[in-house]
Amino acid sequence: AKGSPGCGLLLLSIQPTASLCAAGQTLVPEPQCFPTPGPGAASAGLPMSTKFRLYTNTTEEGCLILFDHLETLDKCSFNTSLPLVMIVHGWSVDGMLEGWIWKMVAALKSQHKQTNVIIADWLTLAHQHYPIAAQNTRHIGQEIAGFLEWLEESVQFSRSNVHLIGYSLGAHVSGFAGSYISGTNKIGRITGLDPAGPLFEGMSPTDRLSPDDANFVDAIHTFTQQHMGLSVGIKQPVAHFDFYPNGGTFQPGCHIMHMYNHIAQYGITGITQTVKCAHERSVHLFIDSLLHDDKQSMAYWCNDIHTFDKGMCLSCRKNRCNTLGYNIRKERLQINRRLFLKTRAHAPFKVYHYQFKIHFINEIQEKQVEPTFTVSLTGTKEDAKNLPITLVEGITGNKTYSFLITLDIDIGELMMIKFKWEGTAVWENIWDTVQTIIPWTKGNRRPGLIVKTIRVKAGETQQK
Ligand SMILES: *[C@@H]1O[C@H](CO)[C@@H](O)[C@H](O)[C@H]1NC(C)=O
Ligand SMILES: *[C@@H]1O[C@H](CO)[C@@H](O)[C@H](O)[C@H]1NC(C)=O
Ligand SMILES: *[C@@H]1O[C@H](CO)[C@@H](O)[C@H](O)[C@H]1NC(C)=O
Repeated sequence: AKGSPGCGLLLLSIQPTASLCAAGQTLVPEPQCFPTPGPGAASAGLPMSTKFRLYTNTTEEGCLILFDHLETLDKCSFNTSLPLVMIVHGWSVDGMLEGWIWKMVAALKSQHKQTNVIIADWLTLAHQHYPIAAQNTRHIGQEIAGFLEWLEESVQFSRSNVHLIGYSLGAHVSGFAGSYISGTNKIGRITGLDPAGPLFEGMSPTDRLSPDDANFVDAIHTFTQQHMGLSVGIKQPVAHFDFYPNGGTFQPGCHIMHMYNHIAQYGITGITQTVKCAHERSVHLFIDSLLHDDKQSMAYWCNDIHTFDKGMCLSCRKNRCNTLGYNIRKERLQINRRLFLKTRAHAPFKVYHYQFKIHFINEIQEKQVEPTFTVSLTGTKEDAKNLPITLVEGITGNKTYSFLITLDIDIGELMMIKFKWEGTAVWENIWDTVQTIIPWTKGNRRPGLIVKTIRVKAGETQQK
């Protein structure tokens, strides 16, 4: 579905009226439609709504590259032998570029000096009621497609050198750019940062970001928690690799309790900060991947977060894992991969994942027990003390349970484990086949819980 032609024709007969529109806005009659400019219409003289700001270190606002004005490429020092990263923002509440954009630009420029970085500024059409802004994504996508076609025709700049990074609605804008660009070749890469959910969830691939939109598409989902049937970020996979940090529903450090800190820090706009926190986390995870080369977050293919929370998916065999963010391994598979990982609440976000498999024998046959225990790990580099083990289910009978434990720090090779049970150090330095009795009460030996073996597996980091 590439727009309704009837709609486009209707609008061509209506002239934009200055008195009805704010400066820089286009008159949009009911129902909301746009002339489909594409390259043809744009060169026919209709101005583009999108401003392409090439970031340079000399100007705050970036240097404006005007569509169909070749001289602006020179004036802005667009270097055609370098790749292009284009950042596409999302819905705008206040009509201003959000602060993360400059952090993203700075991170890109500091790590990859040999890159053209352009901000696709579509604020005039993004600063609208959400449904209208959402509808405008198609139109902006067409404009970006037209802009990239123009670069290709005028200075032979190949679309395969283009990486679109779109946040929220900007992710779908990027998807439309990829699907509207003419010809069979595709844009190099699209990254969707918590692609917007409302009005896109469940839509056909042609009506949202999808793996067809670029040679390689990745997405990071950070705020898909449902509220009254809607979620801010899209839940469904939309890419070749879809990352779901902490399950993708919500993010650590974004809880409502932190709102008070945010309000103290930002005043009343702190409320917006809280709402944005989990949504915008996708952006900060991506920036983190640029800034911390030595702390790349690994994510693992898994059916769902519950299985992941048991530590059962930490394998890298057969493309089961990939790196979150800029340095992702760009491999196209036949099927989409949903990848999971845990993160910290702050940058650097990386944690180290471990699977603990503990074989229990519960001698109190008829009774399910839910013990609380912690482990302390001693590694060649660091120690990690008193990590809680969360039981997903109670322990019954005689079987092996699997747990996920994450560490903020790299402890190196694991040398020793201490296992703590209700505050009592029960044993030390155990590996396989140690049999220890944990008494329920001091004194006479009673039927209890026996830990038979413990096996630990670190999350893999290399493809096998
Ligand atoms: C801007 O970039 C140029 C070329 O990379 C460099 O020579 C100059 O020192 C930079 N200026 C600032 C203020 O960083
Ligand atoms: C463009 O980038 C290339 C590759 O880094 C460099 O050799 C060339 O000097 C640059 N051109 C301009 C005009 O800065
Ligand atoms: C636990 O199960 C294993 C294997 O099913 C069995 O060999 C063992 O005897 C059982 N132990 C107890 C104490 O029930």
